[in-house]
Amino acid sequence: MNKKKKISILGSTGSIGTQALEVIEKLQDKFEIIALTAGNNVDLLNEQIAKFKPKYAFCNNPKEIQGAEYLPLDEICSNQENDIILVAVSGKIGLKPTLKAIENGIDIALANKETLVMAGDIVMKKAKLAGVNIVPVDSEHCAIHQCIKDISQVEKLIITASGGPFLHKSIDDIKKATVKEALAHPRWNMGRKITVDSATLMNKGLEIIEAHHLFNMPYDNIDVVVHPQSIVHSAIEYKDGSVIAQLGLPSMHIPIQYAITYPDRFKGIKSKSFSFADIARLDFEKPDYEKFPSVKLAYNAGKTGGSATVCLNAANEEAVFAFLNEQIRLFDIYSITNEMMNRHNIIANPTIDEIFEIDKEIRIKTREYIKLLS
Ligand SMILES: NC(=O)c1ccc[n+]([C@@H]2O[C@H](COP(=O)([O-])OP(=O)(O)OC[C@H]3O[C@@H](n4cnc5c(N)ncnc54)[C@H](OP(=O)(O)O)[C@@H]3O)[C@@H](O)[C@H]2O)c1
Repeated sequence: MNKKKKISILGSTGSIGTQALEVIEKLQDKFEIIALTAGNNVDLLNEQIAKFKPKYAFCNNPKEIQGAEYLPLDEICSNQENDIILVAVSGKIGLKPTLKAIENGIDIALANKETLVMAGDIVMKKAKLAGVNIVPVDSEHCAIHQCIKDISQVEKLIITASGGPFLHKSIDDIKKATVKEALAHPRWNMGRKITVDSATLMNKGLEIIEAHHLFNMPYDNIDVVVHPQSIVHSAIEYKDGSVIAQLGLPSMHIPIQYAITYPDRFKGIKSKSFSFADIARLDFEKPDYEKFPSVKLAYNAGKTGGSATVCLNAANEEAVFAFLNEQIRLFDIYSITNEMMNRHNIIANPTIDEIFEIDKEIRIKTREYIKLLS
């Protein structure tokens, strides 16, 4: 990477976005920032603009932007000055900008997993046709991306899961869990929605779907193993039985840096060297699908295909918001999502417009159902 890579960060004020800026601060001679975007946190966005001097910015209150020219998200994603766009917004709003960037032939570092859960078939097909690289930011997929040399020789993907804060709690404890307990993740400091998904293990379910699309791997060849230390970020098994895993300290800086500097590697933000002796032990166990039934729900949605994963994503997200607003209990997230899946009439190959229509409809129905419950 000789000349500076020109990058835009969608969601620069979030957990991934702020860590991406920490990575870029350490690699100032490698990057030029074209645009930064936020939702409502304009104070932090303006601080970032003052420090990183992007040309453009976006947020929901354009008039409050100081020090950069306002551009709508669509225009940021079609701006040919970009070499790469980091999509680090949360939820369904990641999909449209990602498609726009692909249409414009701009490479993507993808943190927003909802994009592939909602429209993985369409997104991956369009990216392939346009010759656009999609490099995953999620630590598990980033690990697999690093392990794979030739996907045709890979038998199985093995995705690791930390197990979240309720790994060794009883079902009764999980049923009584408060928002504060669900947000107290033992290993990762993330946005609220993904942290709740990690507590129910739905996050792992969404990652299975993401992995299926990113690596074109059948669902039956994607395994999940619980690994509480979060040192092995995921692994692949080759047809001859060899297993290659990617290891590292549990820090999102590493996969973020990998994704935005790919295919180059730099010392960057790494603070200390990896030491097996310091880690001493690595544990692995099977996931308990009775305590964490969301993983099975996601497998089933993925295998069903079509609009099933759109429904899964929308119903789960609405239920997570209701849990965060203390309208429902943690375990209800699963039963509500399951109920919405049972009621949904699958559309086999939805278009992008249909995907957004289904997403909207499921969200309305989920909110109505939650109202009836509470
Ligand atoms: N955090 C992690 O460690 C991690 C790991 C792997 C994958 N991911 C995935 O990465 C994505 C981001 O996660 P996160 O934890 O960084 O989320 P987060 O902390 O909630 O940040 C979300 C970002 O999106 C922006 N945003 C929200 N609503 C918006 C809207 N309507 N229009 C424009 N921007 C909007 C937010 O702006 P405001 O600050 O203004 O609200 C913020 O910058 C998610 O899809 C998540 O699943 C995260």
